Amino acid sequence: MIDFSDGTFLQDPYPTLNAVREETAIFDQRDEAGMQRWFLTRYDDVFRALRDRRLGRVPEPIMTSDDVGLPPPRDDWKPYYDIEQWSLLMLEPPEHRRLRQLIYREFTPKRVEELRPVVSEHAERLLQQAAAGSTFDLLADFAQPFSVHVIAELLGAPIQDWPRYLDWSHRIVKMYELDTTEDQAAAAVTASQEFGDWCRELIDRRRRSPGSDLISGLCTVETSDGRLSDDEIVSTIILLLNAGHEATVNALGNGMVSLLDAEGAWASVCNRDVRARDAIEEMIRFDPPLQLFERWVLGDDVSYGGRAFAAGEKIAMLFGSANRDPRHFPEPDTFVVTRADASHITFGGGIHTCIGAPLARLELSVALEALIAVVPELRLAQVPVRNPAFVIHGYESVIVAA
Ligand code: HEM
Repeated sequence: MIDFSDGTFLQDPYPTLNAVREETAIFDQRDEAGMQRWFLTRYDDVFRALRDRRLGRVPEPIMTSDDVGLPPPRDDWKPYYDIEQWSLLMLEPPEHRRLRQLIYREFTPKRVEELRPVVSEHAERLLQQAAAGSTFDLLADFAQPFSVHVIAELLGAPIQDWPRYLDWSHRIVKMYELDTTEDQAAAAVTASQEFGDWCRELIDRRRRSPGSDLISGLCTVETSDGRLSDDEIVSTIILLLNAGHEATVNALGNGMVSLLDAEGAWASVCNRDVRARDAIEEMIRFDPPLQLFERWVLGDDVSYGGRAFAAGEKIAMLFGSANRDPRHFPEPDTFVVTRADASHITFGGGIHTCIGAPLARLELSVALEALIAVVPELRLAQVPVRNPAFVIHGYESVIVAA
């Protein structure tokens, strides 16, 4: 029903997503490997599915991968499975709760707000550098180094290595697409191996001389059931480093393109007719950087979009479609910079809800404030080009004039 690889669709998925959502709340599709998914298109269903404890990230609590028709694990992908195995995103309670509680301490709204001065300092410094010429790439020259500096500092990851972990991260997230090619998978596996080795060296160094950063904390923490294993620490470092910039960078790129495109929106932000913290909510509702998340049905009597599900079936939630559902948002296809409605689906919901949401909101509003202060005449200098990917939804580059 939707060709998720089609170039026109990837440039602007919303005309198709809107048409499909208005035709049906649910549809099914098989991928090239024959895996069947049931796509939820409407806000209420996606909102409820995210919070439904009868749905889970992995089938294992009740059945094997084989039972649900997944191909057997591939030996040559082992480095990738190793780093995914202990990723919070792939865990269910009680392991999920144990690991999430440990990390959450560093991501509470209060703790994150304390970072505002240092985050602002990074934003202003990097933006001054980027805007030294007449045009610059909002993503490569500003958003990317900015987000990476913030998350690296919070974690205590050596900043001089950032081009390496940016590259590993870009290669690994290709595994989350619906149509990953063999070449992309091979590159993701190599990146997983290299990233894992790099983490293990770092863990060694932090154990020998711990600091006050999050990685040192993970390496030395004593929980009621003992220390975290090295495998758990490696998965957690990689998840936090990757999640800490991939989505935020695209959120800023997508959001700024929408803001600069919408008649009068940039002027009203610069004139302070609307607060930066409100403007960013519309930026991330209108064109979210993560478009799809999946769940396995693990219980009985599960029903979505008027269809009854059996255990072992796979549900895919379309976030961008839900965020444009007219049943929830009036005039959803209009970018209303004053909308100030944070009930969008962009950060998920339920037990896996984005742990980094307060940090992402801080980064986005600080970045917007910096743009207003440093480049008030900002405009798009070229039509921005989309990345050829659906799940991780963003631009290749966003060239702007200062
Ligand atoms: C605008 C930027 C961001 C967006 C749109 C976003 C979105 C999301 C979403 C939708 C989920 C839930 C996935 C699911 O339900 O399966 C999630 C989970 C997560 N996010 Fe974010 N995220 C962003 C930024 C960040 C940042 C800055 C961090 C910081 C490290 C982060 C760390 C995480 C982690 C660790 C999880 C897994 C939580 C769990 O499974 O319990 N994210 N994110």
